[in-house]
Amino acid sequence: MKISVVGGGYVGLVTGTCFAELGHNVTIIEIDPEKVRAINNGKPPIYENGLEDLLKKNTARRLRASTGYKPVTDADIVFISVGTPPKPDGSANLAYIASASTSIGEALKNTSTYCVVVVKSTVPPGTTDKIVRPAVLLESGKTEKEIGFAMNPEFLREGRAVEDFLHPDRIVIGSSDSRAGNRVAEVYTDIRAPVLRTGLTAAEMIKYASNAFLATKISFSNEIGNICKRLGIDVYEVMQGVGPDPRIGPRFLNAGAGFGGSCFPKDVSALISLAESCGEDPQLLRSVIEVNEQQPQRMIQLLERHVPSLNGKKIAVLGLAFKDNTDDIRDSRAIPVIEALVKKGARVAAYDPMAIPSMRKLFPDIEYCVKVEDALTAAEGCLVMTEWPEFSQLDKEFDLMAQRVIIEGRRILCCDTTEGICW
Ligand SMILES: NC(=O)c1ccc[n+]([C@@H]2O[C@H](COP(=O)([O-])OP(=O)(O)OC[C@H]3O[C@@H](n4cnc5c(N)ncnc54)[C@H](O)[C@@H]3O)[C@@H](O)[C@H]2O)c1
Repeated sequence: MKISVVGGGYVGLVTGTCFAELGHNVTIIEIDPEKVRAINNGKPPIYENGLEDLLKKNTARRLRASTGYKPVTDADIVFISVGTPPKPDGSANLAYIASASTSIGEALKNTSTYCVVVVKSTVPPGTTDKIVRPAVLLESGKTEKEIGFAMNPEFLREGRAVEDFLHPDRIVIGSSDSRAGNRVAEVYTDIRAPVLRTGLTAAEMIKYASNAFLATKISFSNEIGNICKRLGIDVYEVMQGVGPDPRIGPRFLNAGAGFGGSCFPKDVSALISLAESCGEDPQLLRSVIEVNEQQPQRMIQLLERHVPSLNGKKIAVLGLAFKDNTDDIRDSRAIPVIEALVKKGARVAAYDPMAIPSMRKLFPDIEYCVKVEDALTAAEGCLVMTEWPEFSQLDKEFDLMAQRVIIEGRRILCCDTTEGICW
């Protein structure tokens, strides 16, 4: 099939590259010319395990990127994967969705074949029907007989995105009619996974409900962890006994500094805002966010128990990415921790194997270290914020510190004399 993917970020680039790998002819439409240049040169503008090889292989064959919408004119199917960031009130900003829909409509004005427009971005229920559909139909001057609409939420995890995209747990296809849904299903023919066909709004809600549930699992584990710490119980031992119950499941039970990333915080906030707008009081979801916001502050409190005055003290922060295997720092738990340390006058020395360039844009004035040892030398305290596997080997490096005060926000270190936020 001829596929256009609008938005070449984490989701769009992985989606486009994997569709090309499956044998489709793909054009990624991206407004940022630098990303377009990089993609066409086979260099992913983001880090994702395995992506560079797939991109190199496919840019030479079935994949290209463009800043213009012309490729939409002969596409069989167009996926929208632009960002839906939070507005200050927590609701989803749908401006990029609206603008992409208008551009797609304009491009479809003079076409004569049936095309399906699919929303892959995470959007509040009603967006495909009430924002995307009218904009595309109005701009193109066409009817729903000529353009179909579908919603196909994406469940990939950053850091494992290619693997997740090619081997998903399920494929959800919401559509306004079966012809549109069938075409989306055809694109995925070579992927082995259960396919769930739904209406548009149910597909939109499935994504929010999934992310809210996972975020709830994390905040729940953190609350249990906080109680366990008070009682001197190892929460990881506890969760080992909790997870095997198939009604619960062993994943997402890791207590620690909380969840970050481009999805959980913004999607839970958008769901809260959505609930409030329809007259509901989402108490549980609000608590999920509250627990998550407290965890980084707890790390600072724990640090201050060992280093009572942080003013002028060197503090090492190990890990800036919101999780391992990615350079993404969006809503990373390292951000509130660094903010608090800077506010208290500490000298922050930060290390991360991938995410320093992104964090430097946010905090240009703290010290960034190319080696863990540089961050640790003469530090009065160390906070571990990301579960990078390389941190598990650290031990004697901590002897470089002025004192071994090591606070773990993630259970990753193997050495003794550390204190975990919940253990
Ligand atoms: N990142 C994830 O792990 C993940 C997982 C599942 C779902 N999602 C959802 O997918 C969507 C995209 O997320 P992302 O992380 O890829 O965002 P991103 O910010 O990395 O990428 C979005 C891209 O869209 C481009 N863009 C914006 N407006 C455009 C337009 N009019 N035309 C063409 N390009 C345009 C931007 O320049 C950017 O490169 C969001 O709704 C997100 O919630 C993300």
